[in-house]
Amino acid sequence: MKAKFFRALVAEQSENEIFKRSIKELPIAGLPPGELLIRVEYSSLNYKDALSATGNKGVTKNYPHVPGIDAAGVIEESSCNQFQKGDRVIVTSYDLGMNTSGGFGSYIRVPSAWALKLPAGLTLKESMIIGTAGFTAGMAVFHILKNISPEKGEVLVTGASGGLATIAVAILSRLGYSVAAGTGKTEAEQLLKLLGARTIISREELLAGNDRPLLKPRWSAVIDTVGGDILANAVKSSQPLGIVTSCGNALSASLNINVFPFILRGISLIGIDSQNCPMNHRRHIWQMLATDWKILFPESLYKIVDLETLDEKIDLILKGKLTGRVVVKHQNN
Ligand SMILES: NC(=O)c1ccc[n+]([C@@H]2O[C@H](COP(=O)([O-])OP(=O)(O)OC[C@H]3O[C@@H](n4cnc5c(N)ncnc54)[C@H](OP(=O)(O)O)[C@@H]3O)[C@@H](O)[C@H]2O)c1
Repeated sequence: MKAKFFRALVAEQSENEIFKRSIKELPIAGLPPGELLIRVEYSSLNYKDALSATGNKGVTKNYPHVPGIDAAGVIEESSCNQFQKGDRVIVTSYDLGMNTSGGFGSYIRVPSAWALKLPAGLTLKESMIIGTAGFTAGMAVFHILKNISPEKGEVLVTGASGGLATIAVAILSRLGYSVAAGTGKTEAEQLLKLLGARTIISREELLAGNDRPLLKPRWSAVIDTVGGDILANAVKSSQPLGIVTSCGNALSASLNINVFPFILRGISLIGIDSQNCPMNHRRHIWQMLATDWKILFPESLYKIVDLETLDEKIDLILKGKLTGRVVVKHQNN
C-alpha cells in the first residue's frame, strides 16, 4: 500500500524563540505542489542545512520546516512527460530545503525543472556523498580546468577537511593537479593525503603576512571555502594570471584586499554560485562527476547517518568541526 506519511527532521521555533529539532511523521498530502513525488533514499548535510535547521532567516523564512538542500531518490508519481515513475533522480539547490520541504524528509514533492536523472556511473548513495558541496567543488574545478593546466604548479584548497573542499582535493588530484590542502585540523592530514593532497598547509601559514599588499606568488589556482583573510592571502599569493574561486565563507564573509593582485598580476577572482547554476551547466557538471572526474569514495571520506544521528552532526558542522561528508540514509518501507 502506498505510504501516506513520511519521517522527517523538523526544525521549529518554540515559544521562547529557541529553535529545536525533532523527528516527526508528516502527511505526504501536506507537501507543496509539484509534478514529482520522490521517495528520498539519501540526502546529505551541507553548511546551509545547519543554518536552516537552527533558524537562520536568511536561508529559511517560515517554520516549522524540513531542511535538506540535497535529495536523491526514486520517483513515485510524475505528472510530466520527462520523468516516469521509477526514475532515479537527484534534486539539489533551487528552493529545496530552504523554503520547500527538503531532503531531511523521506519524501519530497518538487517541480520537474529541479530534477536531474541520476547519471550512469553514479549510485544514489555516491551522488549524495558528492551532494551540493561536491557539486560546487565541481563548478570550481570546471573554471580551473578551463584556464590552468596541471604543469602550472600547486593548487591551493582551503578549509580542506570540509565537505566541499575534500571533494575538491579528490577531483583535482585525480586530474593530475598538485594539491596543497590548507586546514586547521592536524587530524585530517591522513584523509587529505589519501584523497591525493601532496602538501598540507596549516591555517596559521595561510594567514601569515595578511598586512602586506602582495605576497610571494605560489598558487596556480585556488579553491577557497572560507573567505576572510585566508581568501585575501590566497589572492595575494597567486601566480600571475592565476585563478581564485570563491566558494564559501566558513571563516568570514569579508574580503579586505587591494587591487594590486588584479592589476599587477592579472589574477582572476571567480565567484561560484551553485544554487542558481543553470540546468544545462548543472547537467554537464554532474555528468563529469560521474565520469572523467569520478573520485574514489574511501569510507573515511563520509559518514552515513540516520535522522536520529544527523542532529549531532548539525551542531558539529556549525562549529567547523566536521571532517568530510555526512550522508543521510532514509529508512523507507
Ligand atoms: N557557493 C556555493 O554555491 C556553496 C555551495 C556549498 C557550500 N558553500 C559554502 O562553502 C563553505 C564550506 O561548506 P561545507 O559544506 O564544505 O562546510 P564544512 O564541511 O563545514 O567545511 C568548512 C571548513 O572550513 C574550515 N573552517 C571552519 N571554520 C573556520 C574558521 N573559523 N576559520 C578557518 N577555517 C574554518 C574547516 O576546515 P579546516 O578545519 O580543514 O580548515 C571546515 O571543515 C560554507 O561557507 C558554505 O556555505 C557554498
